Amino acid sequence: MDQKSDLLPIAKLYVNLSHLIINKLIFVFYYINPPPSHFLSNQSPVSHFYYHFLSIYRLSDRNKTEMGATLLSPSAFVKLLFLALCAIWIFPELAQAKHAGTTRHYKFNIVMQNVTRLCQTKSILTVNGQFPGPRIVAREGDRLVIKVVNKVKYNTTLHWHGIRQLRSGWADGPAYITQCPIQTGQSYVYNFTITGQRGTLFWHAHISWLRATLYGPIVILPKEHVPYPFPQPFKEVPIIFGEWWKADTEKIISQALQSGGPPNISDAFTINGLPGPSYNCSAKDAFKLKVKPGKLYLLRMINAALNDELFVSIANHTLTVVETDAVYVKPIKTNVVLITPGQTTNVLLKAKSKAPTATFAIAARPYATGPATFDNTTTIGILEYEPPSPVSKNKNKKFPLLKPALPKLNDTNFAMKFSKKIRSLATAKFPANVPEKVDRRFFFTVGLGLNPCPKNQTCQGPNNTKLAASVNNVSFVQPNVALLQAHFFKKSKGVYTTDFPVNPPLKFNYTGTPPKKLMVNSGTKVVVLPFKTSVELVMQDTSIIGAESHPLHLHGFNFFVIGQGFGNFNPNKDPANFNLVDPAERNTVGVPSGGWVAIRFLADNPGVWFMHCHLEVHTSWGLKMAWIVMDGKRPKQKLPPPPSDLPKC
Ligand code: C2O
Repeated sequence: MDQKSDLLPIAKLYVNLSHLIINKLIFVFYYINPPPSHFLSNQSPVSHFYYHFLSIYRLSDRNKTEMGATLLSPSAFVKLLFLALCAIWIFPELAQAKHAGTTRHYKFNIVMQNVTRLCQTKSILTVNGQFPGPRIVAREGDRLVIKVVNKVKYNTTLHWHGIRQLRSGWADGPAYITQCPIQTGQSYVYNFTITGQRGTLFWHAHISWLRATLYGPIVILPKEHVPYPFPQPFKEVPIIFGEWWKADTEKIISQALQSGGPPNISDAFTINGLPGPSYNCSAKDAFKLKVKPGKLYLLRMINAALNDELFVSIANHTLTVVETDAVYVKPIKTNVVLITPGQTTNVLLKAKSKAPTATFAIAARPYATGPATFDNTTTIGILEYEPPSPVSKNKNKKFPLLKPALPKLNDTNFAMKFSKKIRSLATAKFPANVPEKVDRRFFFTVGLGLNPCPKNQTCQGPNNTKLAASVNNVSFVQPNVALLQAHFFKKSKGVYTTDFPVNPPLKFNYTGTPPKKLMVNSGTKVVVLPFKTSVELVMQDTSIIGAESHPLHLHGFNFFVIGQGFGNFNPNKDPANFNLVDPAERNTVGVPSGGWVAIRFLADNPGVWFMHCHLEVHTSWGLKMAWIVMDGKRPKQKLPPPPSDLPKC
């Protein structure tokens, strides 16, 4: 025993040094021989190995020491000398890496892949043949360099949803906003740094409906040695919700835009790509979460569905929300989480202290308020307890599957209550930097509308019209070149105009009986903001065609949700109740069905920033617009020129 404790300091040094060596070797190996870019996914044994290897040796500090203890060897001394020498070689770079962050390289090949769901095989767009796509894991402060190679017949782009893209707008990704699409056979390197963010985000295609299958998680861990502001989970598990059509989604949306009617609804929702036992021939296609009794789990939930907000619940378990849209929040205990497309929500799940003789459904189904029919099915994943002892003759296959109660499909009161509960930590370490003064105020109506039917055609919208959607009655027309290029090279003429309306062109009772004039205007209009403008924006749902909750997403910024309510926003009364102390800080917020939401953001990021409803069908119909934020005076306040491989239109 004594001998052991004498050896401890040396052993520790040895362990630390061997860790550094391994780290360095991975680093070198990584550059000489980049691993398959699916290395962080949990789908193949190979990638599993990579994932654990990297997560243990590069990402998870706690594991390091645990692992280290098993590496002890009595022949340490000779090696120690060697290691000490190596350390000199290692230290400068590590010291530097700590401040500058690591650069992480990924290669994303966009390829077709046959996938079978609901008894039908179809060829879908994937990254590296994986569905859902590979997981990106990085730390706050890291640089990501992602080479995307387009090997399919569709032109595409990828977007890193929720990443602030500070002065890296060229890497943001929405097609015809910040870049032209990557054409078949071409590639583009997305290069950006994660600054001041940690938590869960996701990446997805950002053109037409290609994001139906092109999506995957982004996990941003805190900087090294920085703990979470909540208990350290035993394990972290991304849970990405998707929406599945048996038919080709590109055909569905193009046919809908042609006819003017609503697109066909989906056939299923999925959890990590799997629909689960409530659907035909999908009993085995269920996501399984295996937990150990008494342990704490961090579920990184992402709603990557195209058109549906989702209620999520796990039978007989309480969840604690600790982060939304990669911002920590005051912990909220709840049985049900509401998550709109474009939102991410980290929840803690505490496993019961004894393994129960049951399994538990992780269930998700829509929260839907619109006038149209929607997919009202429920996707189910299975929470299973691993028996405490290896003896498990009665495999829990026969255990009953308990199902949670979910709010009713149109439970708008639940939605409002849940949304209001989300509050920033607002601590010294994690302050809520809500802009106090406001430079410019905007009032935008968001909602549906109609376009006239072209001559010699019959249309499937109400009264032979085409369904549309708008912001302040402007239905956004996608340009043929990227707005950011047009702006940067001062060639906006014929591409966009800067007269986006600050207020609705027509005042009416937005949430009452809609006016007769339902037709939208069309145009490619933007708002121009000088650098560091402090913006207050009220978004008001309209009841034209039907009131509906719209998850509005802003690129390039987080905003603070300072107020929300039902009915029409009252500029004389409502601001008195604004929360400027600890409002939620997010990138996507649901404009309440038949209500309004007020947000504030500081326009400190030069570039062109898309804002749109994250219900893809509404984006297709024109519920989108863009903000142009001008350069500031200082060099560090200007958008650098585009990378040389920026795709051409
Ligand atoms: Cu999830 Cu415009 O993006």
